[in-house]
Amino acid sequence: MKTHIILIGFMGTGKTTIGTKLAEKLNIYHVDTDETMEEEMQCTIATYFQEFGEGSFRQKETEVLNQVLNLTEPTVITTGGGIVLRPENRTLMQKHGWVVALEAPPAEIVSRLRNDTTRPLLQNGKLEERVELLYQERQPYYQFADITIDSSIYSVDEIVEQLVDLWFNFTQKR
Ligand code: S3P
Repeated sequence: MKTHIILIGFMGTGKTTIGTKLAEKLNIYHVDTDETMEEEMQCTIATYFQEFGEGSFRQKETEVLNQVLNLTEPTVITTGGGIVLRPENRTLMQKHGWVVALEAPPAEIVSRLRNDTTRPLLQNGKLEERVELLYQERQPYYQFADITIDSSIYSVDEIVEQLVDLWFNFTQKR
């Protein structure tokens, strides 16, 4: 049963900002997988990456995703950009949620993340090149979403409004 609304998308596409407002508008819970992980790990994602590496991070991410998807109340779930890499995560999200992919052109992502220091995968090398490479690699993995919205052509409020309407239609047909 697609109980939850799940936001996926590349880093910097607005998942957390939009998810927070969407949950407020719908008056339902919001859980962010990265925040949940930081609470459980008791350290930042950057520190965790540094100490235990990406493989361990991905394992933890799948565990947290499972926990969150098992919530019984409909919840807006916002995720980390790399959660789509594991096939089992994609299958789980498709099964338990109405999946919304947010996208934005790489140049827009670069400008949004220019001064970011929290995302370990973007800290080494030239930002433009890192984003372009990861973007190309990951593009196919966001395609399983039920809908895709370009966050660079609408305001946050417009996207939230669209999602409220689409979610309402979706729940009517469910
Ligand atoms: C990651 C995205 C981050 C965070 C971690 C890894 C990724 O989340 O989970 O730094 O692999 O794309 P955001 O998409 O919220 O930045």
